Amino acid sequence: MTPTQNEVKTTPLDAEIEARVDTLLEQMTLGEKIGQMTQVEKNSIKKGDIAKYGIGSILSGGGGNPEPNTPQNWRDMVNGFIEESLESRMGIPLIYGSDCVHGHNNCVGATIFPHNVGLGAAGDVELVEKIAAATAQEMMATGVRWNFAPAVSLPLDLRWGRSYEGFSQDPAMISEMAAAYVRGLIGGDMTTGVLPSVKHFVGDGAASWGSSTRITAEQWEMIENDPTLANAKVGEHMMDLLKIGAWQIDQGVSDIDEETLRREHLPPYAATIAEGTMNIMVSYSSWGGLKMHAQKYLLTDVLKGEMGFNGFLVTDWEAIDQIDEDFYTAVVACINAGIDMNMVPFDYMRYINTLTEAVGKGDVPMSRINDAVRRILRTKIMMGVFENPICDTPLLVVGSAEHRALAREAVRKSMTCLKNEGALPFAKDSAGLLIAGEHADNVGLQCGGWTIEWMGGPGAITPGTTILEGIRDQVGETAEIVYDENGNFGDVKVETAFVVVGEEPYAEGMGDRSDLHLPQSQVDMIRRVRKNCNKLVVMVLSGRPIIISDWADDVDGLIAGWLPGTEGDGVADVLFGDHDFNGVLRYTWPRSMEQIPLGTDDGQEPQFLPGAGLK
Ligand code: BGC
Ligand code: BGC
Repeated sequence: MTPTQNEVKTTPLDAEIEARVDTLLEQMTLGEKIGQMTQVEKNSIKKGDIAKYGIGSILSGGGGNPEPNTPQNWRDMVNGFIEESLESRMGIPLIYGSDCVHGHNNCVGATIFPHNVGLGAAGDVELVEKIAAATAQEMMATGVRWNFAPAVSLPLDLRWGRSYEGFSQDPAMISEMAAAYVRGLIGGDMTTGVLPSVKHFVGDGAASWGSSTRITAEQWEMIENDPTLANAKVGEHMMDLLKIGAWQIDQGVSDIDEETLRREHLPPYAATIAEGTMNIMVSYSSWGGLKMHAQKYLLTDVLKGEMGFNGFLVTDWEAIDQIDEDFYTAVVACINAGIDMNMVPFDYMRYINTLTEAVGKGDVPMSRINDAVRRILRTKIMMGVFENPICDTPLLVVGSAEHRALAREAVRKSMTCLKNEGALPFAKDSAGLLIAGEHADNVGLQCGGWTIEWMGGPGAITPGTTILEGIRDQVGETAEIVYDENGNFGDVKVETAFVVVGEEPYAEGMGDRSDLHLPQSQVDMIRRVRKNCNKLVVMVLSGRPIIISDWADDVDGLIAGWLPGTEGDGVADVLFGDHDFNGVLRYTWPRSMEQIPLGTDDGQEPQFLPGAGLK
C-alpha cells in the first residue's frame, strides 16, 4: 500500500452532466473534438479560427498581456475571444487560462501576493485559501477562468529556478497548502470560481543538475531565435545566463524510484483531487526514461486509474514537441499516454492536422479522443460556462484595498527572522535609521519572476508599496531615515542600519544557477554599512535560501523576506514590532554549495534547519 492509495478520494460523476456530455459528443465532428483539445497562445490565434475550429482554450503565457496592459483591456481581450467561441457551430465556450501564480500577476494593477515559498513560511492554511479566493476574483473580473496554479513541486535542489514556486520541502505541508489554494480558487462551487491547474505532474522538483534537455550554449548559438525563449526578453544576456547555470535543471530528469515518487511527489495531487481539482498540468521533466508527457503508466494508469482523476490533463507549453523529433510520433505518444488538451502554443494547425491524421490512420483510437473531450466538456459544464460564458465580477476588485490588505497580512506573516541579537524590533523614533540596498525600494525586485513579464523585472512595473515606502509610512515624520541604494553613508555612525539584499527576478530554467552566493557588490555593501552602525539587520529577498555563511556571522539581525509582492508595508509591520515575526523556514538553508542538493552532506551543519524562525 502506498500513501496515495490510502488517500484517494474523487468527486463522483454526476449523471446529468455525463448525459449532457453524451449529447454534445454525439453532435460533434472529429474536427470539433480536436478543436476542444487545443489550447492556443493569444497572439498566435488567427482571427476567425476560434469559431472555425471550435478551439477549446486560449492562454496568456507569462507576459502575454494586452496593450496597454490594464484590467479593462484584459477583460475586453478575454471576452472578445470567448465571444468568438460562441460563434462556432457547437457554440462551446472557450476557457481562458493564465499563470496567476501569486495573484493575477500578468495584469498591471492587480494585487501581487508573496510567492509560494513565502506562503509556506507563513504557514497559515486559511490565509492561503483567502489569497486564492482573492486571486480568483481578480482573474474573473477580467474573464480569466483558468489558473495555471498551484505548483505543488517539492524543490530538492535549490539551484532550480522554480524553487520559489514550492511551498515547502515537506510533502505533507505542500499537500495541505495546495488543498487550501485549490479550495480558494474553486470557491465552494466551480460555477463561481476558477479552474485550478495543479502542476507539474509529477516529480518536477526532483530533477537533477545538468539533466535539463532544454537548451545549451552551443544550441543557443545555432537557434538564436527560439520564440519561446524570446519571450523571456533577456536579449544578449542569454549567453551570460547559460554560463551561470540557466537551463541546467528545469525540464530535466527526475532520477528517483517509484516508491519515492509516490511517497514524496504524489500526495499533493491526491490532496487536490480530493478538493475537486479538474485540471492537472503535466511536467516537462522525465522519469523512468520517458518524458512525463509520454508516461502512459503515470498519466493514465496511476493518475486517471488508480487515483480516479476525472478531470483533464493539459500539456505544458510546447511540451509535445520535446517528446520526439518527429512531430507525428510525438503527438501519437502523448495523446495515447493520456494527454487531453495540448497547450500548443504557436502552430496549432500543425497539431490539429497531425492529430486528425493520426486518428484517420488508427494510430490514436477514437475512444481516446472521446475520453479526452468528455473530460474537457465535463469540466466546462461544471464551471457553468455554457450558462454564463462571460463573468460579471466587477473590475473594481482588481488591486482593491481589501485584497492589498490581505497581501500585506501575508507579507507580514511570511517574514522569517533567522537571527536577532538585540537588533529587532527597531524603535520608531530612532534617530537616524540607515537603509541600504536596491531591493529596499523596488517593487519589481520584491515581486520576483512571473510579474507583468514572464521573468518579472526591476522597477515600478506595477502599482505597489516598496519596503522603504512602507517604513516611511510607519514611522511618520518623526524619525530620520537616510536611504542609499548602494549603502554609501560615509563615516556616519548610527545605532541601527537595515540592508536589503537579494536576487534579481527570474522564472523557470532562466533562474537555474550553479552558484547561490550573493553578488560581491552586495556583500561589499553589507560590510560597508556594518561600519556605520552598532546594530546591523540584513533582509534577504530571494526565491530560495542562498549562501550567506561568508557574512551572516557579522550581522546582528537576519530576516528571510522571500518574494513578498506588491505590499512592501507588511515588512515594516514586523520591523517596528507592531506585529511579531511569524515565518518559519520550510526549506533546509544550506551553509555551502556542497550541501546542495538537499541531503548532500559536507560534514557541517546546515546554516538553518526547517522549523527555524524566531517569533
Ligand atoms: C511564455 C511562458 C512560458 C514559457 C515556456 C514563454 O514564452 O511566455 O509563459 O512559461 O514560454 O517555456
Ligand atoms: C511553464 C508552466 C506554465 C506555462 C504557461 C510553462 O513554461 O512551465 O508552469 O504554466 O508555461 O505559461
